[in-house]
Parts: sequence; structure tokens; C-alpha cells
Amino acid sequence: MNAAPKFGPAFTLESADAASLDQLRHQAMGCTRCELYKNATQMVFGEGSQKAEIVLVGEQPGDKEDTAGRPFVGPAGRLLDICLKEAGLDRSRCYVTNAVKHFKFEPRGKRRLHSKPNAGEIQRCSWWLGAEVKIVRPKLVIALGATALYSLLGTKVKLTSERGRILTPADHPPVLVTIHPSFLLRIRDLGDGEQQRAHFVADLHRAVQYQGN
Ligand code: URA
Repeated sequence: MNAAPKFGPAFTLESADAASLDQLRHQAMGCTRCELYKNATQMVFGEGSQKAEIVLVGEQPGDKEDTAGRPFVGPAGRLLDICLKEAGLDRSRCYVTNAVKHFKFEPRGKRRLHSKPNAGEIQRCSWWLGAEVKIVRPKLVIALGATALYSLLGTKVKLTSERGRILTPADHPPVLVTIHPSFLLRIRDLGDGEQQRAHFVADLHRAVQYQGN
């Protein structure tokens, strides 16, 4: 039996067709491609310039993003902003989006607890992410975590073995692999947290070096 190519898509990377991000956002507004739209407050589309050289891709909106209708405005977003700055990247010059555009959660009393999107939901929503990347045509895409990486490559790749690398999938801008900032928020040990955060900043700094080339 033939082994699957390392970065060959396991699902078809089809995407929406639109002339601009505004047009695409309008199309995505009424998305019912999976069930997640039913419980979320709203679809959270990407944000930033169509001319951005860097696209940052997270997993899905969290509780705060679901309410605000904007990506990365909660605790993970605040940490991301700080780390981007430390790495020498200006968020306002990047396009920031998510692999999945609706918040998936489990209700726990008054709280809504983040729930991981499944492979089907990620595949369905790659329809929008693929189109965002095609329209922006960045120099580099930064995959923040495994969900973003799966959506961008169309195949499951071990994040720990590719972390810090810049992958070059066919017919796609290069993809820099790193962790999701919420991973840092979950670390309890202070020393470990500092070390992991420095590693994340170093990963992001690779984008600055890459841009300079
Ligand atoms: N986590 C994400 O992956 N995206 C957001 O927008 C917020 C938190």
C-alpha cells in the first residue's frame, strides 16, 4: 500500500469564491455548512488588511470573541498581541483569522466551556479559510496550533515535530508552524511558562526573519 504523502491533503481543499474579503465575509455570514452556527452568537470572520503580508490562523473564536464578533480579543488574544510585539510583529499589519468561524462550547451553568472542533467541522470551515488565504495572498501564514495546521494543510501533521519550521505546501503560501497561545495560559509552573513563552516568541520571530528575505 502506498503511504500518503507527508503534506498531501486528506480532504479536498476546496474554497469559496469571492473577489474581496468584504464579499467573502458577506457570504460567510449566513454559513450553515456545519451545525456550529446554531448555538454560537455569531460568525467571527477574520480581521485585517487584504494586503497583509502575514496571515495568523487560530483555532476558533472563544467566549469573548463570540460576543464581540472579532477574533483574538480575549485572554489568548491579549497574550498573542504581547508575544507578537516581543517578536517584532505588528498585529495591525497582519490578517488575523480562525480555522473555524463559530464558537463551539459546552454549557456549564452560566459558563460556556470551549470545546474542540472535530475534523468534519474543521474541513467544512476550511472553505472560508482557504478563500481568505487566496484573497490576501500573504508571504507567510502562521498556523497557531494543530487545528489551524490541519485546516491549512488538509492533513494531520504532528505539531511537535514540525514546530518552528516553515512548510511549503503545493499551491499555497508557506506555513510557519507554532503552538496556540492558549497553551501558554494553561501552564501552571512559572519557570516552564516563561520558557515556553520565549519559545513561542522565537517561533513568531521566524516570520520577521522570513519577511526580511
Ligand atoms: N482562540 C482562537 O483560536 N481564536 C480566537 O479568536 C480566540 C481564541
